Amino acid sequence: MNPSPENTPYIRCRGLTKVYRKGKITVTPLEKLDLDVRRGEFLALMGPSGSGKTTLLNLIAGIDQPTDGKLEIGGRDIATLSRGQLTDWRAHHCGYVFQLYHLVPILSAYENVELPLLLDSSLSRKQRREKVLAALELVGLSDRADHRPAELSGGQEQRVAIARAIVADPGLIVGDEPTGDLDREAGDQILDLLRELSGTHGKTIVMVTHDARAAAAAERTLHLEKGRLIESGHVSSRAAETVASAE
Ligand SMILES: Nc1ncnc2c1ncn2[C@@H]1O[C@H](COP(=O)(O)OP(=O)(O)OP(=O)(O)O)[C@@H](O)[C@H]1O
Ligand SMILES: [Mg+2]
Repeated sequence: MNPSPENTPYIRCRGLTKVYRKGKITVTPLEKLDLDVRRGEFLALMGPSGSGKTTLLNLIAGIDQPTDGKLEIGGRDIATLSRGQLTDWRAHHCGYVFQLYHLVPILSAYENVELPLLLDSSLSRKQRREKVLAALELVGLSDRADHRPAELSGGQEQRVAIARAIVADPGLIVGDEPTGDLDREAGDQILDLLRELSGTHGKTIVMVTHDARAAAAAERTLHLEKGRLIESGHVSSRAAETVASAE
């Protein structure tokens, strides 16, 4: 019998390896990594600088491709997709939130949020408008649609970036230190929003953070060290799998 979608992990990595080669230098940030993330789970990823957190996030987001191993997201092995297929997959399935927001300065909040939808030629202007307004409302910024990034606070800019990440209704949101540049209050608002997106809207969230307080907002925290995942003091690339199968 096939496992039901509820029981199948949304993200499933097996033997995931990333090797960077430049000249004579070889760097292996990820080595034979196994990881299961439940659909709708909010996972925090911690680890020292250079431990491979962004590398892992970029693989999960389809921005980069693994050197070896399996990477299934929503039942699809994205490690086998071509660059073009990956771009298409990303547009529909994954929203990315960066530490420094990465909004386009000359565009309004509305136009920034609309950007990912312009990749989808099947959407009419009216359909795009409905989606953009719904996303801005969800992040509590309906009244700032016409503001440019420079006219917003850092916390508001990050909320616009989250609206942009969710506007195409992806199942997955990844964040690379999304609260790293914010004060505690603005950071807490972002964490509340991410919790709502996973708890109420069923989004699967993988968030890299250096801040234990931010990690505490997630349901589970994994630590990356020397290419391996560490959980609860056990060093094992199978740690996540063990936890997943114990649930
Ligand atoms: N495109 C690349 N080419 C070569 N080496 C790379 C590349 N990207 C990352 N690396 C190397 O891979 C390792 C992991 O980098 P990564 O950016 O994933 O770390 P990180 O855990 O996100 O660190 P930080 O907390 O500082 O953001 C580093 O040693 C880095 O130098
Ligand atoms: Mg990083």
